[in-house]
Amino acid sequence: MAKIKYIHGYTEEEQNRLIEQGSILSDFVFDRLDFSATQRLLEVGSGVGAQTALLLQKYPQLYITGIEIEALQIQKAETFLSSLPYAKERYQFIKGNARDKNLNISKNYEAALFIWVLEHIAEPMAVLNNIQNFVIQGGKIFAVEVFHSSLHLYPHCPTIMEFWQKGIEYQASIRGDANIGQRIGNLFYDAGLKNIQVSPYPMQFGKYDRKRREKMLKYWHGLMKSAVPNMIKAGYIKKELWLEAEKEILHLQQNDNSVFYYSFVTIEAIVP
Ligand SMILES: C[S@@+](CC[C@H](N)C(=O)[O-])C[C@H]1O[C@@H](n2cnc3c(N)ncnc32)[C@H](O)[C@@H]1O
Repeated sequence: MAKIKYIHGYTEEEQNRLIEQGSILSDFVFDRLDFSATQRLLEVGSGVGAQTALLLQKYPQLYITGIEIEALQIQKAETFLSSLPYAKERYQFIKGNARDKNLNISKNYEAALFIWVLEHIAEPMAVLNNIQNFVIQGGKIFAVEVFHSSLHLYPHCPTIMEFWQKGIEYQASIRGDANIGQRIGNLFYDAGLKNIQVSPYPMQFGKYDRKRREKMLKYWHGLMKSAVPNMIKAGYIKKELWLEAEKEILHLQQNDNSVFYYSFVTIEAIVP
């Protein structure tokens, strides 16, 4: 099978970025997810265990099985989780493709969760159909997903927006969808899931919330930077464009009137 192309890559820098990302975004990402009545959770595309760690900390009754396609991510996840006393014996990571019907796991999960994963998958419908088979009837499927065209910055930053649009196009070229959040409800519907609840999650920060604006702009800088090597390699951008975009990020950080806006999307539904 051809190796999947993953926009961020699997470098150590990127793995550490995922762990940092988990904690920076956790207030927003977990705001509309509730696992307080869940014992067995299947986390699909568990990466380096960044969300696994946060979930185990927040919900002491949870046991999590992570499915991850890339061995390097699993290695990092094992090292990371083994350093957290509260996580002891409460997780397992299985190397596998979420599309695989013969995943070596039981079929009794009460819930499955995708965080920033379906955007990277060429056939998200096939994955949704497959993962349902591992969740009990009446169990839930949750996803938190990107909607990159929702990004707005004030004052307008033409180079960042050009770079961002190229990123959306590059992700599409490797069969991902950086705007999957917009159509995620339709995907869940077509996968036969019931009681679908789609919640767009707008984040807007200006001078009235300088701390979070600063944190978010710093985080976004890292997020964009993580895609630069692959975008240059694939001929989507030149390094000069990125360097100009970085100058605009710096100006935004220095401008007390700047405003950051982005909306991701959370969804939950029931397995019939
Ligand atoms: C952006 S990372 C997110 C990781 C984690 N959910 C988080 O929020 O920190 C996406 C992960 O999905 C994994 N992935 C992509 N396609 C997959 C597939 N078909 N089956 C299992 N994992 C997959 C990638 O290897 C990557 O580690």
